Amino acid sequence: MTMQYLSEMTDEQTLHMYSGHPMGLFPSSKDAPRVVVTNGMMIPNYSKPDDWEKYNALGVTQYGQMTAGSYMYIGSQGIVHGTAITVMNAFRKKLQKGETNKGKIFLTAGLGGMSGAQPKAGNIAGCVTVCAEVNEKAAVKRHQQGWVDILVFDLDELVDRVRIAQEKEEVVSIAYVGNIVDVWEKFYQDEIFIHLGSDQTSLHNPWSGGYYPVGLTFEESNQMLRTDPENFKTKVQESLRRHAEAVNKHTAKGTYFFDYGNAFLLESSRAGADVMAENGIDFKYPSYVQDILGPMCFDYGFGPFRWVCTSCKESDLDKTDKIAEKVMLEIKANSPEEIQQQMQDNIKWIQDAKKNKLVVGSQARILYADAEGRSKIAKAFNDAIANGEITAPVVLGRDHHDVSGTDSPYRETSNIYDGSKFTADMAIHNVIGDSFRGATWVSIHNGGGVGWGEVMNGGFGMLLDGSAEAEVRLKKMLFFDVNNGIARRSWARNEEAIFAIKREMDRTPNLKVTLPNIVAEDLLDEII
Ligand SMILES: NC(=O)c1ccc[n+]([C@@H]2O[C@H](COP(=O)([O-])OP(=O)(O)OC[C@H]3O[C@@H](n4cnc5c(N)ncnc54)[C@H](O)[C@@H]3O)[C@@H](O)[C@H]2O)c1
Repeated sequence: MTMQYLSEMTDEQTLHMYSGHPMGLFPSSKDAPRVVVTNGMMIPNYSKPDDWEKYNALGVTQYGQMTAGSYMYIGSQGIVHGTAITVMNAFRKKLQKGETNKGKIFLTAGLGGMSGAQPKAGNIAGCVTVCAEVNEKAAVKRHQQGWVDILVFDLDELVDRVRIAQEKEEVVSIAYVGNIVDVWEKFYQDEIFIHLGSDQTSLHNPWSGGYYPVGLTFEESNQMLRTDPENFKTKVQESLRRHAEAVNKHTAKGTYFFDYGNAFLLESSRAGADVMAENGIDFKYPSYVQDILGPMCFDYGFGPFRWVCTSCKESDLDKTDKIAEKVMLEIKANSPEEIQQQMQDNIKWIQDAKKNKLVVGSQARILYADAEGRSKIAKAFNDAIANGEITAPVVLGRDHHDVSGTDSPYRETSNIYDGSKFTADMAIHNVIGDSFRGATWVSIHNGGGVGWGEVMNGGFGMLLDGSAEAEVRLKKMLFFDVNNGIARRSWARNEEAIFAIKREMDRTPNLKVTLPNIVAEDLLDEII
């Protein structure tokens, strides 16, 4: 039905999608979005995981996930890029100036749909990646597809292979077929120093096979899951406690551990693992957004801008890569020191993007850029479509995992510390604001990435057809889409965002954002 509506609609109608149900075509105008998508929007008191089971079974709601629910999914390319940026910046935090990533170890888990991107990202970052995967089939598949270089089935063999890789300073990714907890414990016992540690098992879904407990084989776990789910839950919690204990032993020796947005720390804390900070409120370890992507990227407006060439031609994608590189180089020449590193990492990414062979299906590309970068790249694409250099329209979008659009207290907005991380006003403003500034479609979902009831995330799609109207739309909408998020982060007193929004106000006279007045810490201590 949805395809039918899309094929017959005019540009004076809008299709309204209610959690997968096409409610119908309603009269609108040429300037309105062609599609409005909502997924899983609930009355807040009815947004617990059990409510999802019930209302999904009734067929009245559905889980939107993130870009998939917005018709903006481009395969693993997005996560490879985001993970590469995260790993490179994590190493910068850990290593001394001048030290390289060569021979340094990144240990993590999961070779599934998204987690399978980790070894490729590790290779792009130039380190030794060890990734445990309990499901042999998944590991073998990732190996055959070239996502991971080496498969190892035995722990002693793994230790030997890692030592060789370190000695030779190889850039290599190694999949260990088995449980991640065994690897953390074995590396401690055999004194292998882990520089970076993380985890990407599916802990947003811990009781239904997202996380496999140590001590059981993959088959034994699946059997228990079917016959004795309560016992399985107990085993998962025991395993998480053991997992966290092993991580703690390594971090005491200097390992940098970060939560990679899979709810590892949240579920470990719920299982009673030793992962809480001394204040009993925060976790012992920062999430990657708190420490890395938040302050280094999102607060400056850098986030996963993406585009799709509707011609489906590789040659058009090649042209867009070249255009984006040229624009980024021009911007970098006049950029402040604060954002030079991000510009440099992304110029390198776009230069190597084709070589990394990440396109699956649609001819699509991802690149972290700020408001200026996104707008200038989009304008350059629109000009190239107008003059025929690019042969057909280009659709712009972004991952929801961005500076704005997504309110997610355990991930995208986890580096908001003024208490507002449990609000979801930003996501709603993004969707409404984008819709009347020229988005071709807008979307908002409850759930996505970290789980139903835990996040509101929104996105958009925008068609560039080379017209003058498209140029007006892209400038208005991309500006708002990014700066709405920076403004919200600045109001939460994030220094980098205050810097970025002030810079934007200097450039844009009719932007007037309410700035925070910073209260002296000692005054606050006295009052509270
Ligand atoms: N940070 C981000 O940007 C980001 C992006 C996408 C997804 N995620 C999150 O990452 C998680 C993984 O996503 P996915 O799509 O790859 O899920 P997935 O279920 O496809 O893959 C997870 C893999 O982990 C393996 N696994 C589970 N327990 C294990 C254990 N104890 N030891 C070794 N292997 C184990 C499973 O066999 C599975 O193959 C999810 O929670 C997701 O929400 C984060």
